[in-house]
Amino acid sequence: MERSGVWRDGGMPRTARLASGEAAMDAATKRRWGDQMFALLAANTTQMADREYVQPVADYVDPGHAGRERDLLFRRTPLIVATSDELSEPGAFRTVDIDGISAVIVRQDDGSLRAFHNVCRHRGCRVVDAECGTARTFTCKFHSWVYGGDGALRYVPMVEAFAGMDRAERGLVPLPVAERHGLVWLVPTAGQPLDLDSFLGPMSDALAAMRIAEAGVFRFEHFAENLNWKLVVDTFLELYHVPHLHTKTVGRYLEGRGAIHEQLGCHSRFIAPRKSFMPALKDVPPDQRDISDHMLVINRVFPNAVVIWQRDHVEFWTATPDGGDPNRCMVRLWLLSPTKVVSEADRVKWEKNWTIVKDTVRDEDFPMACTIQKGFSGGAQDHVVFGRNEIGLHDFHRALKEALAAA
Ligand code: FES
Ligand SMILES: [Fe+2]
Repeated sequence: MERSGVWRDGGMPRTARLASGEAAMDAATKRRWGDQMFALLAANTTQMADREYVQPVADYVDPGHAGRERDLLFRRTPLIVATSDELSEPGAFRTVDIDGISAVIVRQDDGSLRAFHNVCRHRGCRVVDAECGTARTFTCKFHSWVYGGDGALRYVPMVEAFAGMDRAERGLVPLPVAERHGLVWLVPTAGQPLDLDSFLGPMSDALAAMRIAEAGVFRFEHFAENLNWKLVVDTFLELYHVPHLHTKTVGRYLEGRGAIHEQLGCHSRFIAPRKSFMPALKDVPPDQRDISDHMLVINRVFPNAVVIWQRDHVEFWTATPDGGDPNRCMVRLWLLSPTKVVSEADRVKWEKNWTIVKDTVRDEDFPMACTIQKGFSGGAQDHVVFGRNEIGLHDFHRALKEALAAA
């Protein structure tokens, strides 16, 4: 099961094919983005909201607010918990903890997925301890009740001790699960509806363009952080800090301006130019500009995921509250690679990608976010301000506010 407090390598290089930049987005979309980014960079600016956004600090530290988020967002909303690739074979399973809910997701023989509360129907033990694997049955360690991968209770030792029990009614409790575009979504409450098409809306096409279904997981890690889960998402939603905080890492190849932002229902995406954008494209006629190599696309998937497209690969992050404490969260990171057999030369490249992600976010963004969390707890101020240039943050927090108000 998941451990906290450490960065842990939970994956091995795996099967993978990923779309080239050419294929990932359609030409009309890239042309539109190219024109917009070119105009912004030429004017030495970035896309701006009409006004600044005032964000209450209490949303990050108040236990009552955290409780509402848990009940309304992290119990009722579809949450990305795995890739389809991680559950490719019949019997493949993964366990996941979502702020107190332990679930196990299993690939069925007919190719569908099922998910269950990872809780024994005898006296309530966790049934599956491993984070992932392949199994035909799951045996609870306490008294060896045996469940099938379909959740059915298959065997009870000394069954005569449970004379009135109907085994058919003692299977693992099912949870709603669905997959789309190579990603797996879970709703951690039994009986909740799960309609991914209406939930994703316009984000569905944006995710399809990432072509994650064709990719594999090069590496997956999870780790605990002492910060509110929203600060993890906030990290990825503005470029303003890039030339200031990341001078030695991503600041070397990413612009601090020129980004464009698109709201997609309760989700959004944010397109950021690389430093190569202007040098490569400034003398190219607009209809001949190919921006694929000179941008990255940051998809924010409501409520808690960020799926980042970077030319030849995708990385994605999720953050969930942890332990019912607004000051803690569990972060999960997947790096998808495009090759089935990772050659030595390719391995160097993917290890380097992984190192860049870790060095930047773990060593630079999250320590900063931890100081924010402490500052929020210290009562210095009751609100912070998102600048007109931090438009991705406006949209994220507005979407959260609307979802909590509507529930
Ligand atoms: S608690 Fe699982 S078999 Fe007893
Ligand atoms: Fe950053």
